[in-house]
Amino acid sequence: MVVVLDFGGQYNQLIARRVRDLGVYSELVAYNTPVEKIKEMQPKGIIFSGGPASVYEEGAPKVDPAIFDLDVPVLGICYGMQLMSHMLEGKVERAGKREYGKAELRLQQPHSLYEKWGENEVVWMSHSDKVVELPAGFRIDAVSDSCPVAAISHPERKLYGVQFHPEVRHTVKGNEFIANFLFEICGCEGNWSMTTFIDDEIKKIRETVGDKKVLCALSGGVDSSVVAALIHKAIGDQLTCMFVDHGLLRKGEAEGVMETFANKFSMNVIKIDARERFLNKLKGVTDPEQKRKIIGNEFIYVFDEEASKLKDMDFLAQGTLYTDIVESGTATAHTIKSHHNVGGLPEDMTFTLIEPLKTLFKDEVRKLGTELGLPDEIVWRQPFPGPGLGIRVLGEVTEEKLEIVRESDAILREEIAKAGLDREIWQYFTALPDMKSVGVMGDVRTYSYTVGIRAVTSIDGMTADWARIPWDLLEKISTRIVNEVENVNRVVYDITSKPPATIEWE
Ligand code: XMP
Repeated sequence: MVVVLDFGGQYNQLIARRVRDLGVYSELVAYNTPVEKIKEMQPKGIIFSGGPASVYEEGAPKVDPAIFDLDVPVLGICYGMQLMSHMLEGKVERAGKREYGKAELRLQQPHSLYEKWGENEVVWMSHSDKVVELPAGFRIDAVSDSCPVAAISHPERKLYGVQFHPEVRHTVKGNEFIANFLFEICGCEGNWSMTTFIDDEIKKIRETVGDKKVLCALSGGVDSSVVAALIHKAIGDQLTCMFVDHGLLRKGEAEGVMETFANKFSMNVIKIDARERFLNKLKGVTDPEQKRKIIGNEFIYVFDEEASKLKDMDFLAQGTLYTDIVESGTATAHTIKSHHNVGGLPEDMTFTLIEPLKTLFKDEVRKLGTELGLPDEIVWRQPFPGPGLGIRVLGEVTEEKLEIVRESDAILREEIAKAGLDREIWQYFTALPDMKSVGVMGDVRTYSYTVGIRAVTSIDGMTADWARIPWDLLEKISTRIVNEVENVNRVVYDITSKPPATIEWE
């Protein structure tokens, strides 16, 4: 395993991801994780990520200096290299001008870290500070035109630093570089896979749970389904799934969840009809963050109440993913949206959480689902947010508006599937802006709702591009929605990517 220390850089999540793609398990942890805790993880290598701070500023994130004496190879990337230099008594200064974009790296000597690299390779730079004096015992491995200290090392102490970003695709031989660090320097074996992950997690779950009982928040989405299947595999009937129908689900979804898990998989599933309760709580609420918090909190309150009826439920399993944690703000990343699974938790919660997917990205969760034997219709189900249609009905949520979203969304899903595009498009749904506009139908003036279609392609939900759905298909969907869904006279298509927009509209 390789530990990545998170200093808040924008590409950090990619580092752990690239390492895992090379068959080495990796986790991103906060930069100030105590050195004892890191030691317990028994890493074969440690990577310091990039970050927005300057090492010489007061309060800049630092590591425990003992980390350099663990006899574990350390690779510092960008801020990570500057931090290593600064803490080992080299010197870091503000660069005359910020270096951002592609640069040509020239190797100064052969080096096992740069195996399969030519003498000149294109790398991605993004920094405004630079190392101007090396710490004792270090040497310069590579330079670029504007960066005379672009890569450094102290091979005896197994300390390495690079100013460029090997995790970014623009660094042409970035993957080879990371592979060299893992296999040549750290001696990793590269045999980690989803099967290993399952075995490890099952062991961990059994150890954590013992003979106690686990309640799982099953929503029918990919994440909670995979988490339920994983935990069920580990502890069988010690798991009870609770499916809360909050009335914010898509058409036919509540029935589908029961059919799959209770009937096909023979799991213990309890269904709670909380539709009215949620709608009442949401009455008059228009602020998106408030809606998210209300739905998230209400969810947990319902669980708490229902769980106390069940007795002896100690753990709550959730399908929190890595992206949920990052977007809800870690110590170093900014809050974009408070995600249902994280930000909405009330402080007086009585469960201990188990979140076995929290180091994974969405596409990894899908692989895991297949490995666990879940059927394609679940594994390839498009992501659906915890707050459900509550954040796709913009502004106040009412039953009338929910019905419009359910019906229009069902038409969209049906047509996308018929066109065979359901796997290509990461997510596709309809949203209802809080507006009406004028139209004309059969010579009569109408004043009705506008339905928005959102369809995006993405790898992990962190970034997304709007899907280029064929125009004639869009036309068919639009015609069907206006004809078949009451109170709608206009359909629009969202052509913004993420960033600057987000995938959901709230
Ligand atoms: P955004 O809208 O932030 O969405 O670009 C990124 C991905 O996350 C999903 N999403 C959520 N998932 N709880 C979830 O479990 C939430 O509160 C939540 N909000 C957004 C969204 O559907 C997309 O796949």
